[in-house]
Amino acid sequence: MNLAKIIKTTLAVTTVIVVAASCRKEPANNNNNGGNNDTVVMTPYEFVPPTHFPEITIPEDNKLYVERIELGKRLFFDTRLSNDGQNCESCHKQEYGFSVPGVSTFDKGQTSLPLINLAWNKNYMWNGRITGTLEDVMMMELTVRFNTDVAKINDISEYRIMFKNFYGVDEITHKDMAKALAQYMRVLVSRDTKYDRYVKGQVMLTPMEEEGRRIFFTEKGDCFHCHTNLLATDNLMHNNGLDSVYAKEIDLGYYNVTKDANDKGKFRTPNLRNVALRTHYMHDGRFTSLEDVVEFYNTGVNKVPTVDPLMTKANRDDVFGLGLNEVEKKQLVAFLKTFTDSTMITDKAFAAP
Ligand code: HEC
Ligand code: HEC
Repeated sequence: MNLAKIIKTTLAVTTVIVVAASCRKEPANNNNNGGNNDTVVMTPYEFVPPTHFPEITIPEDNKLYVERIELGKRLFFDTRLSNDGQNCESCHKQEYGFSVPGVSTFDKGQTSLPLINLAWNKNYMWNGRITGTLEDVMMMELTVRFNTDVAKINDISEYRIMFKNFYGVDEITHKDMAKALAQYMRVLVSRDTKYDRYVKGQVMLTPMEEEGRRIFFTEKGDCFHCHTNLLATDNLMHNNGLDSVYAKEIDLGYYNVTKDANDKGKFRTPNLRNVALRTHYMHDGRFTSLEDVVEFYNTGVNKVPTVDPLMTKANRDDVFGLGLNEVEKKQLVAFLKTFTDSTMITDKAFAAP
């Protein structure tokens, strides 16, 4: 072999090694949907939106697989993600629709949010401070809330194997963990409330609930403009007139994100699925019963410059409140209770592994 030939051969071999090495380092790029396909076969998860729900968008690099969802669920219930013994479940319990009673000091006195039908959202958190995908929200939860020690996670061989198999990574990063957690968040779907069954024509509402439904969906209550039909939230920012003075920093809501005076007191409309399982209502948990919430909408709305025009009676800018009588208030509460999804809160597929 002459020198030129030797150099050529060496180069060729080196190139092969380099290519092979880079493949090993980034198999996720080649196998975005299949993880480490060489050795592990994963089961694609078929995401079926509930009837009448729009399709969802799933990030290309985080396609749903049964195994990845299982991995995300494990992380959700694992106290090793935090440094103080908490896990995600500490504040998001299935029996409460993945929320929890009370307020969170870490969150400046805000209530926990229910983890339901998040797959359809683009705006997250009470004041909409995170926009984007569930992966983005999970990055925040891991790096800011938990300050997760990735070295600790990498020391757990079970996780190393799972991440290698399902995401094709040798070294687990916050981003990989966020992807797995987002998978579990995405499949927490509520589709079987009494109201869903009613819409599908499977059950009747009681006369009380039916009257409440009418109040909710007509100008009388006007709830549906923000808490839209089946998703039960428009996922947009509104001021529903809770405060005349913003006593606490958190009460300023979306203003804290944009610093625009027009956004004072605006919050993202919350999902009303499983709302009857909550014990504290509104961003700061100021109300402790649905009766109190309805009373607020009936008589307590504050007329402030940024209050949503929907909070006034149709064509009567000056009239606030709903003018519901005692029976009508009870009817509205009865209807709100038809949003409870007993199937979801007892579904073993969502429970601790
Ligand atoms: C100490 C209590 C606590 C812990 C622990 C906690 N959360 Fe939360 N979570 C909250 C609170 C409170 C909010 C609302 C915060 C806000 O609006 O600023 C929230 C919001 C969320 C949201 C946004 C929901 C929405 O509708 O926008 C998601 C998703 C979420 N948490 C998932 C998680 C995951 C996953 C973990 C674990 C990595 C976790 N949380 C740990 C209290 C907690
Ligand atoms: C202008 C939009 C808008 C309208 C109309 C509206 N809401 Fe709301 N609703 C919101 C917003 C925004 C919040 C969250 C406010 C906050 O936390 O500061 C909220 C919160 C709630 C909550 C508390 C949810 C929780 O998890 O804490 C309930 C219950 C509720 N609304 C029911 C109703 C009912 C019933 C009606 C009709 C009488 C109604 N809403 C009309 C925007 C609206």
